Amino acid sequence: MTVFRDLSQHILDIVENSITAGATLVYLDIVEDPAANQMVIAVRDNGRGMAPEMLIQVADPWVTTRTTRKVGLGIPFLKQTAEMCGGNFKVESKPRHGALIQATFALDHIDRPPLGDLIGTLLCIVVGNSQLDLVYDHRVGEQAFTFRTREIRDILGADVPLSDPDVLGFIRNALAEGLSSIESRAGVDVKAGH
Ligand SMILES: Nc1ncnc2c1ncn2[C@@H]1O[C@H](COP(=O)(O)OP(=O)(O)OP(=O)(O)O)[C@@H](O)[C@H]1O
Ligand SMILES: [Mg+2]
Repeated sequence: MTVFRDLSQHILDIVENSITAGATLVYLDIVEDPAANQMVIAVRDNGRGMAPEMLIQVADPWVTTRTTRKVGLGIPFLKQTAEMCGGNFKVESKPRHGALIQATFALDHIDRPPLGDLIGTLLCIVVGNSQLDLVYDHRVGEQAFTFRTREIRDILGADVPLSDPDVLGFIRNALAEGLSSIESRAGVDVKAGH
């Protein structure tokens, strides 16, 4: 079975897992490194984590039967995509100590899905989880952009929800500006021979 999805759909899946696991803080790191021809997507959370038995099973939905485990596909799909695209996949977790899910890809691999609608995905996460602290860090070459929901909350105060339409517009613009600045500056670096 082949399902074509872009990377932001995978990201949504993985962050939803964190939220289901009770996380209140999620770090999303995206690194695009043209020099190393690598892309890394990592999600780290402070949720309830996974027991060792779950950790063994989690990347392979077929190792156990349905009677011992609900067959989830979010993690196996991301693992499969990474491995098909010249990359690798890892999950690290301990009970009560959160989880780290990391997928790497060859940046120029012909089958590597595009990031897709990352801004829409991030907005979806922010609006749907008003209590969640999200720290999104994105690097392209030497350029970096970090977005923290906590900073927005500190500016707005506790009474204004992040789902307020004006606030959403503000967040959307901040994300769009941040993303386009790292992409265009990274382009300049490449042209300048860095
Ligand atoms: N960040 C996390 N913290 C704790 N447990 C997790 C985390 N991510 C995944 N898990 C565990 O791994 C299981 C498998 O995750 P996966 O995304 O593959 O499937 P699922 O979420 O159960 O179903 P779906 O196909 O809807 O995504 C989850 O049900 C959960 O028990
Ligand atoms: Mg899932």
